[in-house]
Order: sequence, then structure tokens, then C-alpha cells
Amino acid sequence: MPTIHEPALLQEILTQLNPQPGQNFIDCTFGGGGHSLAILEKILPSGKLAGIDWDRNTIQESSNKNLILVNNNYKNLKAIYESLKKDQGLGEINGILLDLGLSSDQLSDEERGFSFDSTGPLDMRFDTESGGQTAADIISTAGEHELVRIFEEYGEEPLAKIIAKEIIKQRNEGVDVRSADMLVQLITDIYRRKFRQPSRRNPATRVLQALRIAVNDEFGNIRVALPQAIDVLAPGGRLAVISFHSGEDRIVKNFFRDMAKADHPRIKIMTRKPIEASEAEVKANPRSRSAKLRVIEKL
Ligand SMILES: C[S@@+](CC[C@H](N)C(=O)[O-])C[C@H]1O[C@@H](n2cnc3c(N)ncnc32)[C@H](O)[C@@H]1O
Repeated sequence: MPTIHEPALLQEILTQLNPQPGQNFIDCTFGGGGHSLAILEKILPSGKLAGIDWDRNTIQESSNKNLILVNNNYKNLKAIYESLKKDQGLGEINGILLDLGLSSDQLSDEERGFSFDSTGPLDMRFDTESGGQTAADIISTAGEHELVRIFEEYGEEPLAKIIAKEIIKQRNEGVDVRSADMLVQLITDIYRRKFRQPSRRNPATRVLQALRIAVNDEFGNIRVALPQAIDVLAPGGRLAVISFHSGEDRIVKNFFRDMAKADHPRIKIMTRKPIEASEAEVKANPRSRSAKLRVIEKL
């Protein structure tokens, strides 16, 4: 699939995971395949890389015998690995990557409702055939307290209460906010009334991010996947996690800290401080500005 996604911290990932010929890797967030293909080049001719993505649009039949593509949620990592071991002879795993969040391909797809430019339905599910609730469903059914919790917990939105109140008011007046542009307008109007000086950032950014995290239970998936990744790794193997949101990074940081401090530690922390993008990378790929990479090694 053609992709416009620029992988963040690519060189840093290659340095930290240090893929060698014959080793096997799992990329839990295949996306446009940028990280995966760079790792794959290093593990040829006999190494294998399993690329997982929850979004079926990113996963096609692989024509490369060293690349196995799987459409699934990485929260099922252990079961996915067990089945690849049994059915495809996938050997021990030397490195696992989680590059969290969404790709530029998803952001730019009008139909998905991820971006404030999209006029399509406010969907935001990574797996559009899962039957789970969409962002529009949350906006049209969640109670005021629940909306405030989502906007504050996942988006750190300072005007969460006012925005939630306005959504409920519109709902009571029969207005169904079902597209990203309707929601963006509602939030922009609130910000305009509250602050004369418009900020450079679109004021709906935090609420859209919060809805995406809620729709896909992104924090829940990470919490479930991290211990499975440790189980799946071979001793000496490394787990690298790139996060773009302070809430995500906190989950990763605390999990690594607790595992490393346990009575019988199973991991060693390789990054005391998270690795961030260089100035040059941020200039070339502004999305990398908020990327934080944390790495552990399994003992
Ligand atoms: C930042 S992008 C990855 C980009 C990729 N590293 C690259 O170089 O192109 C994140 C990807 O993770 C996928 N994703 C999000 N949550 C997921 C989950 N729970 N399970 C599997 N994939 C998930 C998204 O569909 C998206 O394609």
C-alpha cells in the first residue's frame, strides 16, 4: 500500500533493537511499514518479521516470505505469537516494537474522521469492522460526566466541562453532532467566546485525540500488551515503545520501572530518560516532536 507516513525515530529504533541477520522481530504497529521494512533488511536472509496492525487497510497479503502480516489487536500479542510459532514456524523473538497512536495515512483519510479537516462521519475506530462504538456514538450517547472524564483523562482538555455541557445542550435541542467538522465548529465557538486571541493549534485537537483514545481503548490495550511482550521476548531481546501522548508514556514508564524494581526483575531499563527526536528530525517530520522512545532488555 502506498504510504505517506514517515516513521519516527527510525535510526534510534535500529540502534536500540540492533537487528542482526537471522533474528526474528515483531512490529505490533505495522502501519505503513516504515520501521518494519528497515528492520527486515537487517535480518535477511533467514530472519522473520511479523507485522501486526488492527487496521485491516494496512495489512495486505505479504509477497515476502520473511514478512508475515497479521490483522489483529496487539493486546492479543501472546496468542498471535503462539499461533505464528505453531503455523509458520516463527522462532524466538529478539525484538518487539510498539509505535503507538495513529499514522499519517489514517489521519489524512477523510472517511475515518480522525482529523479536524475531515467532513466524514466521526468514526475513529482502527478496526472499522469491529462493530464497536464510534466517536459519534460516544458524542451522541455518553453522559456529561463521562464526556468530561474522557476529555480530561485522555485529552487534558482545560475546557472539558464547558464542551461537555454544550454537547449535551445541543443533543437536547435535537442536534446530532456526527461529523468531525460539526464537533470542531462547536469547540471553536466555545474557544472564541472564551479567548479573544485564537491559539495557533486547532482548539479541537485535544478533544479529537481524547475521543480516539476512548473509542479504541488505547490505554487499556497498552496495559494488556506490555507484560505479554516481556513474556514473548527471548532472554536478551529488547522491547521498544514509542509514545506520542503523556498518558501513554506514563503507563510505559511506570510499567518498566515496576518490572525493573521487582524482587526478581525480568528486565533491565536501557533508557533512563526517554529518547526524543533530534532537531533535524523534528524539522523534517514535525509529528516526531512529541515522540518518546523507551527501551528495556529482557534478562
Ligand atoms: C504510528 S502508526 C505506526 C507506523 C509505523 N511504525 C510505520 O513506520 O509506518 C500506529 C499504527 O498502530 C496501529 N494500531 C493502533 N492500535 C493498535 C492495536 N491495539 N493493535 C494493533 N495495531 C494498532 C494503527 O492502526 C496504526 O497503523
